[in-house]
Amino acid sequence: MSQYTFVGPITQLLPMVGLPLKGAISDGELPVWESCGILLEGNRIFEIGDYRDLAKKAKDLKAKIVLLESPCVVLPGWIDAHTHICFEGSRARDYADRNSGATYQEIAQRGGGIWDTVTQTRKADQDTLAQGVVRRANTHLLNGVTTIEVKSGYGLDVQEELKMLRAIREADSRTPADLIPTCLAAHIPPRDFPGGASAYLDVLEQELLPVLLRENLSNRIDAFIEKGAFDPKTILPYLKKAKEMGFQLTLHADQFSTGGSEIAVACEALSADHLEASTEKEIQLLAGSSVIAMALPGASLGLGCAFAPARKLLDAGGAVAIASDHNPGSAPMGDLLTQASILGAFEKLSNAEILAGITFRAAAALDKQDRGVLQKGFLGDFIIFSTTHYNEILYHQGSLKPESVWKNGKQVFPINNQ
Ligand code: NIG
Ligand code: FE
Repeated sequence: MSQYTFVGPITQLLPMVGLPLKGAISDGELPVWESCGILLEGNRIFEIGDYRDLAKKAKDLKAKIVLLESPCVVLPGWIDAHTHICFEGSRARDYADRNSGATYQEIAQRGGGIWDTVTQTRKADQDTLAQGVVRRANTHLLNGVTTIEVKSGYGLDVQEELKMLRAIREADSRTPADLIPTCLAAHIPPRDFPGGASAYLDVLEQELLPVLLRENLSNRIDAFIEKGAFDPKTILPYLKKAKEMGFQLTLHADQFSTGGSEIAVACEALSADHLEASTEKEIQLLAGSSVIAMALPGASLGLGCAFAPARKLLDAGGAVAIASDHNPGSAPMGDLLTQASILGAFEKLSNAEILAGITFRAAAALDKQDRGVLQKGFLGDFIIFSTTHYNEILYHQGSLKPESVWKNGKQVFPINNQ
C-alpha cells in the first residue's frame, strides 16, 4: 500500500518548473506558488497544490500530516554537481603559501598541491575514506544539498582509484544524500608512473575503465585539461575511448588556460567545469552547444582569482550551473549556497539564474531527469527555509540555513522532528 505524506502550509514554493535550460532568466519569470502544500507518495511528489484543497485529499488518502510553521519557503534540494570530497589530509599550508605569493602551479611543481593529497589519500584505507565522505556529505545535506557528485582522482593508480570509488559507493549507502560517483583518474599524470601521460591513460583505458563498468562503480569520466595536467591532444583519445565504452564525460576545462572547453564541445561532454580563463571564443562555443557551463566560485575564492564569466555565458545563451568544487586544495570551504550567492553578486546574476544553477541546470549536468524541480513524479527532495520571501535566501549569502531538509520523501534533517 502506498504511504502518503502531506507537508504544509507553505508560504512560498518555488517549483523551478517551466524555465529554460539555456540562457538568461529574469526574476519575473520565476514561478512562485503561495499557500500551497506538497503531497508525497513514497519517495516521490504526488501533487503540489492549494493547501486547503490538498489537505482534504490528504485526509481521504489517510496521509501522514506534517504541519509546517509559518512563514516558510520551499525549494528543490540543491544539487552540487562537482565535488572532490573523497580525500585525506589538509592543504592549509598550500593556502597560506598561495596567500604569501606562491601560485597554484608553483606549489604543484614542487610536489605539493594535488600530489600532496594523493600521497595522503593513498595512506588511508577504504573505510576511513568512506567515513570522511559521509561526514562531508552530511554537512552539505544540512546546508540543503540533497545530491552530491563526488570525484575520485587522488588515487592516480588503478587500485587506488578503485579504492576511492568503492569508498564513495560505501559512503552513498551511509548518507541520506545521493552521491553520484565520477572517475577522475586523469587528474594529473602520477609522479611515480614509469612512463608518460599517454602511457598512463592507456593503462586506465585497459585496466580501470572495464572494472568501473563491471562493478558499476561509475558511468562518468572526468579529466583535468590544463598545463601541468593533461593537454588537449593527449587526452582526446582517452575521452573518445571512454565515450565509446558508454561513459558520460565531464571535464575540468579552462581553469588557468584555454583548450578544455573546446574538447568538451567536441566530445559532447555533459559539462565543462571551471571556465575562469574562458574568452569570448570559448563563451560562444559553449553557448552554441549542449554542454553545461559549470561555474565553480569556491575555486575562485580559494585561489583568489577571477570568477567564471557566468553573466557573459548566460547572455550568449549558455546553460550555467554552479557547483562548490569542494576539495582540500583549491576549494576547501565547500558551502554551495554561500558561493553561489557570492558569484551572483560579482557576476550580476538574477536570483532566478542562481537558483537554476544549483537546481535543474545542475541536474542536467548530471543527466538526472528525476530531480531539480518540484513537480508530480519527481523525487521528494526539497528544503524548507523559515522566512517570508525567497529573496531572503540569497540575500543572506548562505548564513540563512534550511530549517529542514527532505530527501526521497522523508525529512532527513532535523532527524528527530517527524
Ligand atoms: O577542481 N583543478 C583541478 N582539480 C581540482 C583541485 C584539486 C586539488 O587542488 O586538490 C579543482 O580545482
Ligand atoms: Fe574540481
